[in-house]
Amino acid sequence: MKNIFDQEYQITKEKRQKSNGHNSFLLWFTGLSGSGKSTIANKVEQKLFNQGIKTYTLDGDNIRKGLNNDLSFSPEDRAENIRRIAETASLMIDGGLVVLAAFVSPYKKDRENIKNIVKDVNFVEIYVNTSVEECERRDVKGLYKKARAGEIKNMTGISAPYEAPDNPDIEILTEQESVDEAVMKIVDFIQPKLKLKNE
Ligand code: ADX
Repeated sequence: MKNIFDQEYQITKEKRQKSNGHNSFLLWFTGLSGSGKSTIANKVEQKLFNQGIKTYTLDGDNIRKGLNNDLSFSPEDRAENIRRIAETASLMIDGGLVVLAAFVSPYKKDRENIKNIVKDVNFVEIYVNTSVEECERRDVKGLYKKARAGEIKNMTGISAPYEAPDNPDIEILTEQESVDEAVMKIVDFIQPKLKLKNE
C-alpha cells in the first residue's frame, strides 16, 4: 500500500508463543444458523482454557452488535464481515492466541479468503453439519419462523445459499454425535498443532 510502511516490534509472535507455551492459530466454525457452532466453540474454549491455553472467541451474533454493526446479510456485506473477522483473527494469532470463530460464513470464496489472510497453516476449518430441516426444527432464535413468514430476507438455508465445505479439516454431524463427542474430536485434532517446535 502506498505511503504505508511496516513497523517492526521487538515482541514478536514467536516470543509470545514461547511465553504462552503453545502455538497460535484459528479454529473456524462454519454452518447454518442454529447448527450448534457457538455451543461447540464455547465448550472447546472451556477445555482449552482449563488446559492453560490462551484463547479468544469471535462470534457472529456478538461481533455484529459492535465492530460489524454497519453490515447487513447481503453477499457483499457477508464478505466484508468475514474479511474483517479474518483480519482481527490474524492480529490475535500474532498476539499468540488460539482464536475460535463461529460464523455462518456461507460462501466458499469468503472462507478461501480467510486462508489468504491468516495463512493456510493457521486455519482449521470445522464444518458444523446440521441439516436445514433440523435447524428449522430447533429454531432456537425463532429466525427460521420469521424467514418463512417473509420477515427476514436473505436467510441462509431458506432464501440465501449455504455452500458446504468440500474438504473441511473436521466435520461434525450434530444429528449423529453429541456435543461432548464433537468437542473431544476437535480438542484431539488440535493437540499436535498446539505444540511448539523444538519441544
Ligand atoms: S455471516 O453469514 O455473515 O457469516 P454471521 O455468522 O455473522 O453471518 O451472523 C449470523 C447470525 O446472525 C445468525 O446466527 C443469526 O442469529 C443472525 N441472522 C440474522 N439474519 C440472518 C440471515 N439473514 N441469515 C443468517 N443469519 C442471520
